[in-house]
Amino acid sequence: MTRYSKRDFPVSEIRRFLEPGPVVLVSSRWKDETNIMTMGWHMVMESDPSLVGCYIWTEDYSRQMIRKSRECVINIPTIEIATKVVRIGNTSGRDIDKFARFKLTPVDAEKVKAHAAISPKFPRTIHYRGDGLFMIAGPTTRRYRRLFKPKNL
Ligand SMILES: Cc1cc2nc3c(=O)[nH]c(=O)nc-3n(C[C@H](O)[C@H](O)[C@H](O)COP(=O)(O)O)c2cc1C
Repeated sequence: MTRYSKRDFPVSEIRRFLEPGPVVLVSSRWKDETNIMTMGWHMVMESDPSLVGCYIWTEDYSRQMIRKSRECVINIPTIEIATKVVRIGNTSGRDIDKFARFKLTPVDAEKVKAHAAISPKFPRTIHYRGDGLFMIAGPTTRRYRRLFKPKNL
């Protein structure tokens, strides 16, 4: 087994190893206004009923829109639109209409609903490592599946 030597590391940088993936786009709507933001800081907290925790900075325009409407949609982009993902995170709905600027089509949401593309089964999602680096979802293995307790599957 490989032995790793460890060194002290800044606590504020630990996020680079812990940041969950994939990066998502959180869209929102309040009255006639739509908005969308890039988000890396989210985590699954319950499966049924589905509960996802997330952190939205106080200065983000999305925060006030979601607070008012009390709803949002979590969209999971893949590597093909990584450029848009970064640009959506570089701009604010306070200044521009991001759906128009990035040629996105807003669609009415249905409450407590999920939908996904049928293929590929394991999409090439992008996972933020901090410092402008993305990890792209790669190989999937079944090798350890037989070790799992059923309730942990
Ligand atoms: C890769 C990436 C990850 C980000 N993760 C978060 C996040 O988890 N929470 C957050 O509040 N902002 C995050 N941001 C920044 C927001 O997307 C950014 O502040 C955006 O301008 C907010 O848009 P808004 O003002 O229209 O809401 C991230 C940006 C990038 C590029």
